[in-house]
Amino acid sequence: MKFQTQIFNAQADFTSSIALGAELLKKGELVSFPTETVYGLGARIFEEAAVLKIFAAKGRPNDNPLIAHISAISDIEKIAVEIPDAFLKLAEAFFPGPLAVVVKKHPRVPAAVSAGLDTIAIRMPDHDVALALISATGEPLVAPSANISGRPSPTIAQHVLEDMAGKIPAILDGGACRVGIESTVISILGKTPIILRPGTITNEEIEDVLKTKIEVVSSFTTNERVASPGMKYRHYAPKAKVLLFKNGAEAEMFLKENDLLKTRILSNSFKNARPLLAETLYAEFRDADKASIEQIVIILDDNTEQKLGLMNRILKAAE
Ligand code: TXA
Ligand code: MG
Repeated sequence: MKFQTQIFNAQADFTSSIALGAELLKKGELVSFPTETVYGLGARIFEEAAVLKIFAAKGRPNDNPLIAHISAISDIEKIAVEIPDAFLKLAEAFFPGPLAVVVKKHPRVPAAVSAGLDTIAIRMPDHDVALALISATGEPLVAPSANISGRPSPTIAQHVLEDMAGKIPAILDGGACRVGIESTVISILGKTPIILRPGTITNEEIEDVLKTKIEVVSSFTTNERVASPGMKYRHYAPKAKVLLFKNGAEAEMFLKENDLLKTRILSNSFKNARPLLAETLYAEFRDADKASIEQIVIILDDNTEQKLGLMNRILKAAE
């Protein structure tokens, strides 16, 4: 245990929490902070030693690139080159918000940030604590989700503490994350923009802004050639086994033969189930593990199946 990890209440003590967080970051330490999607594990982008600490703290494979978080549009010139028009259109429409855009990396950005790629994913989080922390630090922050690799992303400060206690000096507590699943990642490097990781911003919303058809990576699973390296790893998974059902009747039969004390049901269409929402999915996973639940039964419905981002996380967890 290198640190006595402290949680700072960034809602009650906004100014002092930001000042403290920025001071630690400037010293090359890691600080966890809230965003609208999930909690991030932040380091200064130009401090390679700090960036490497992120991989160690998470147990993250070093071929999985990080997302740069900016607080002002003018920040992009420091970290990207040959910025296409499409970037500015997307930024205008969705920043701050849950969209990360992959463009060409500035050679000044340490190689570890992008796992050796010459590209960089950039987003502006829609959270006052995140934005203030980035500005106070004076440079963009790289921030993966603040979980141990493979575990569900944290959506409250307590989740971060579960995974990062002793490994980082500070967590800024900004309450529960509004969105609950990670940002949509889109690459605009090729002729056709392509969604590398689905989120809550839909393809249609992006097509409306870019006035062009976009693609979605067909395989979000194990494949050496995946465009977004992070998608090939097992993700978002609780320890409990996740079982998917398309209809209530089948689920009912399954539940009759199983120990309900060790089972949890998530659904928007099934009696006595807990809600199946992006906002609460990861919290449900973590909570089930704490309660020693052995299986999580997820019963889908048409409305849920339309939600690409949520479905992607559910399918990953059930793999
Ligand atoms: O919502 C989010 O994006 C959260 C919060 C903290 O901002 N962050 C997050 O980071 O989810 P992380 O590291 O858990 O996921 C980053 C994803 C990975 O799938 C990674 O492969 C992809 O973004 N990515 C990052 N840089 C990339 C690049 N240059 N090219 C392609 N994919 C990239
Ligand atoms: Mg992650």
